[in-house]
Amino acid sequence: SSAAMASFLTLLGAVLCSLMVSSQVVPQADFDLQIAGKWYHIGLATNAERYVSRRGKINMGTYVITPLPNGDLDLLYSSVYNGTCRKMDKVANKTDVPGKYRSISRRTGHLSVLSIVDVKYDEYALTHAVNTKENDTYIVNKLYGRDADLSAEVQEKFRQFSLQTGVLPENVMFFPKSDGCPSLSLVLPEVSSC
Ligand SMILES: *[C@@H]1O[C@H](CO)[C@@H](O)[C@H](O)[C@H]1NC(C)=O
Ligand SMILES: *[C@@H]1O[C@H](CO)[C@@H](O)[C@H](O)[C@H]1NC(C)=O
Ligand SMILES: *[C@@H]1O[C@H](CO)[C@@H](O)[C@H](O)[C@H]1NC(C)=O
Repeated sequence: SSAAMASFLTLLGAVLCSLMVSSQVVPQADFDLQIAGKWYHIGLATNAERYVSRRGKINMGTYVITPLPNGDLDLLYSSVYNGTCRKMDKVANKTDVPGKYRSISRRTGHLSVLSIVDVKYDEYALTHAVNTKENDTYIVNKLYGRDADLSAEVQEKFRQFSLQTGVLPENVMFFPKSDGCPSLSLVLPEVSSC
């Protein structure tokens, strides 16, 4: 029917538009390694079903970012899941562009190209990742804070950025505050994507 066609064209437009915006997203120009250290994972924005289906069940985790001597970044993620601490460690390879990194998920095999789009090193960081595997492409935006709380302005900035990259309003998520993991625990293999 023409209504179905119209809604298909609208959807196609939204997809093309989000891909176009995505290719225009660039890392912050003066990016540097002050990004190192501990960050709280405040927000997540994506239309990817693997995250959307867990809406309301994802806890606020933390990341510890450690620059490696070769310019790559080590990312150690910790969160509490069902009363148990989970940790996942991965390395994001540097690229020729400062603030842009590449990694491959051991769990899903997706190539992730991550850009650190907007950062104020003592306050917040906003990242944009384009994940691809064969025909499957999805965007994941994340918001990090040095504190477990971020201002309403920064949250709104993240929301607006996410809408511009094609994420649906209901898929912009902010996590409930959590104490996170105690520091003494085992490092488990990657069990969920980070
Ligand atoms: C949560 O933990 C409890 C107790 O350890 C366990 O019995 C239950 O199966 C766990 N649930 C999930 C979804 O992992
Ligand atoms: C990252 O670098 C390692 C070696 O340093 C390489 O084996 C791996 O394929 C690289 N990953 C990506 C996604 O480029
Ligand atoms: C990718 O798309 C092509 C063309 O539409 C199709 O033939 C192929 O089976 C798809 N591959 C996967 C892994 O879905």
